Amino acid sequence: MKRSSAVTSPPSLSLFLLLLLPLLAQSSDDLIDKICRVTPFIDLCEASLRPLTPSPSDPKSLASAMASVVLGNMTDTLGYIQSLIRHSHDPAAERALAQCAELYRPVVKFNIPQAIDAMRRGELGFATYVLGDAEKQTDTCQKWINSAGADDENSVALTARNKQVKNLCDVAISVIKSLMKGR
Ligand SMILES: *[C@@H]1O[C@H](CO)[C@@H](O)[C@H](O)[C@H]1NC(C)=O
Repeated sequence: MKRSSAVTSPPSLSLFLLLLLPLLAQSSDDLIDKICRVTPFIDLCEASLRPLTPSPSDPKSLASAMASVVLGNMTDTLGYIQSLIRHSHDPAAERALAQCAELYRPVVKFNIPQAIDAMRRGELGFATYVLGDAEKQTDTCQKWINSAGADDENSVALTARNKQVKNLCDVAISVIKSLMKGR
């Protein structure tokens, strides 16, 4: 009977829509998920990218957003170091802090902004190099802080910030590498 096909077609149409809708609704959330999943710090990656408005909607803008988060955190950390220097009464700690500031200043003023520019031009290899270098600077700074032997709350706070910047660099490098592989 002809009738039965007329009856079955609406359900199959709605089934079709049901299957199609999630695809149409695929938002930048899913992209963030996909990209963060292959980074070494998934939670940190998500925490960095999810709150951004407008939400980055393609891999390229995700990668440069991630580099901007690194820049923001490292700039913040430099500011924190400078405020510690102003209030320091311990010459050894002050020297270590001054060395950290020397390292971080060019990285936040020139290197990372240049890397972000380079990413816009598609020069991704250069960006991973700069972020790898930034990560090394956090290690070197941390060694100085450790060897200055201060264990007050400020040093503990700085250590946590250094660690966060280092991990953010790792995440950013991994996001850029995903982009290079076209994932
Ligand atoms: C530092 O990183 C955290 C975690 O990703 C992020 O939520 C925060 O906005 C960043 N801070 C700055 C100043 O960029």
